[in-house]
Amino acid sequence: MKLFIDSADIDEITQAYSYGVIDGITTNPSLIKQAVLHQKSKSIEGDLQSGDIKILDMKSYLDSLFVVAKQTPISLEVRGGTADEMYAQARALYSKFKTKFNCVVIKIPINSQIEEFSDVDEMQGLQVIRRLSHEGIPTNVTLIFSPEQALLAAKAGATYVSPFVGREDDFIRSNAGLTYDKNAYFEPEENLSDNGIESGLELVRDIVTIFTQHGFQTQVLAASLRNPRQVREAALVGAHVATVPLSVIKAMVRHPKTMEGMVAFTKDFVSEYDELFK
Ligand code: G3P
Repeated sequence: MKLFIDSADIDEITQAYSYGVIDGITTNPSLIKQAVLHQKSKSIEGDLQSGDIKILDMKSYLDSLFVVAKQTPISLEVRGGTADEMYAQARALYSKFKTKFNCVVIKIPINSQIEEFSDVDEMQGLQVIRRLSHEGIPTNVTLIFSPEQALLAAKAGATYVSPFVGREDDFIRSNAGLTYDKNAYFEPEENLSDNGIESGLELVRDIVTIFTQHGFQTQVLAASLRNPRQVREAALVGAHVATVPLSVIKAMVRHPKTMEGMVAFTKDFVSEYDELFK
C-alpha cells in the first residue's frame, strides 16, 4: 500500500518526506487555506525565515511542493461547477505544473452540485473524468461516500477514487445522534449504517471488492483517515493508497511498550558494546 501525506503545509510535507516512506501528496481547498493562514500568521509575527516560500504566490508555493515530492503524485483540486468549467480548471492546473513535474493528479468531485435544486447537472463530474482520462490526465475522484459513486468514477476512467473514511463515520454517528470525538476509531454498531455501509472502512472494503471482482484498474485511495488503526484497516481491506496527516503518521510509530523497551535497552548498554560505535 502506498502512503501519501494529506497536507498542503510545506514544512509538514518536507518533514514527512524526510522519513523516506511517503509516496505522494493529497491537497484539498481546506488544506491549502490552512497553509495560507499558517504562512500569513508566520509573516505577521515576523517568523518567516528568509528561505520560507511566500504562499501568496501560489504557483511558486506549489512548485516548491513538487520539488519536495520528487515526481511522486500530487493531487490538486478543481473548484467545481459545470463540466466545461472543471475541464478548463483541470487543464490550467495540469499545464502549469506538467512540464517540470510530470506527476500532477487532478482532483474532481464525484458530484459538483452545491445546492439541492441548482441547475448544475449532477453528472458533470463524470463527464470531466472521462474527458481527462481520454487525454491521459490522471484523476483523483474525491468526496466518495458510496460504492456506487466509486463504481461510476471507475467506469469513467478515474485513476484514483477517494472514499472519506472519517467523514463517513461522522455521518453515521451524527445521524444516530451520538456524541463523538472525530479522531477516535469508530467501531461499527448494530443497526447503524449509511444505506447499508456501517463505517468508513466498510466503504473502502466494498469499493476494493467491487473493483477486484470486476477488474477495474482504478486505485482506491483511503482518505479522511484520522488515527493509526484506520490506516491499518485500510491496508487490511486492500486499499492501494492511504493518505494521512502528519500527526497520524507520527502516531503510527508509537507504542507504550516500544518506549518501555527503549528505556530498558538504553540503560543496559554496556561500555564494551559502546566501543563498537566508535
Ligand atoms: O483527504 C481528505 C481529507 O483531507 C479530509 O480529512 O479529517 O477533514 O475529514 P478530514
